[in-house]
Amino acid sequence: MDRIISPSILAADYLNLERDVRNAVAWGADWLHVDVMDAHFVRPLTFGAPMVERLRRVCKIPLDVHLMTDKPEQLARDVLDAGADVVTFHVEATQDPASLIAMIHERGAKAGIAIKPYTPIEAAIPYLETVDMVLVMTVEPGYGGQKLMPHTLEKAKALRERYPDLLIQADGGLCDATIRDVVAAGVNVLVAGSAVFKSPDPERMIREWRTIE
Ligand code: DX5
Ligand code: ZN
Repeated sequence: MDRIISPSILAADYLNLERDVRNAVAWGADWLHVDVMDAHFVRPLTFGAPMVERLRRVCKIPLDVHLMTDKPEQLARDVLDAGADVVTFHVEATQDPASLIAMIHERGAKAGIAIKPYTPIEAAIPYLETVDMVLVMTVEPGYGGQKLMPHTLEKAKALRERYPDLLIQADGGLCDATIRDVVAAGVNVLVAGSAVFKSPDPERMIREWRTIE
């Protein structure tokens, strides 16, 4: 299965966002990771559907939208209308993941389900036959630039053993020092914010991450 690299614009320069997005594409990004935070589910507030709509105009690669929000149902509709290709919501944030997954699929997008570092994989397992991707948070959601929590990779490993064909995404603390362990755990969708946008040579970094054994 090909590995997917999804740089997170959370670490981009918001005043030069178009430049940074075009750079990420030129460096070889497969997807663009868009962190939607609502100041409730997580403390910070970032951006929402209007940003997705504008990114859509300048960016041809899939927009990978990570909803760190309570009540993700309405926002999911809004980001889908704005052109999201992948919509991931947190299992902790909704009462009815199954309906939300169905709605995302009806609109032709990929659906992902995310678990926080201390949420057991059992919370997501009932939905993993229907989703396209599971997002194993490798830091507490909310901020870029944190250190990867190693116990989260055990969860990725356990999921990979049960689901050989599923997209498994890791998000938070991925960098040159951790990437081998992440890949060894069976993760095949790599999200990175600071590691990409603060790298002296992002193109080389992305190329290397793609081919690590
Ligand atoms: C954190 C976000 C991440 C964030 C990762 O809550 O979901 O996508 O951008 O940032 P880094 O790669 O810097 O840990
Ligand atoms: Zn994210």
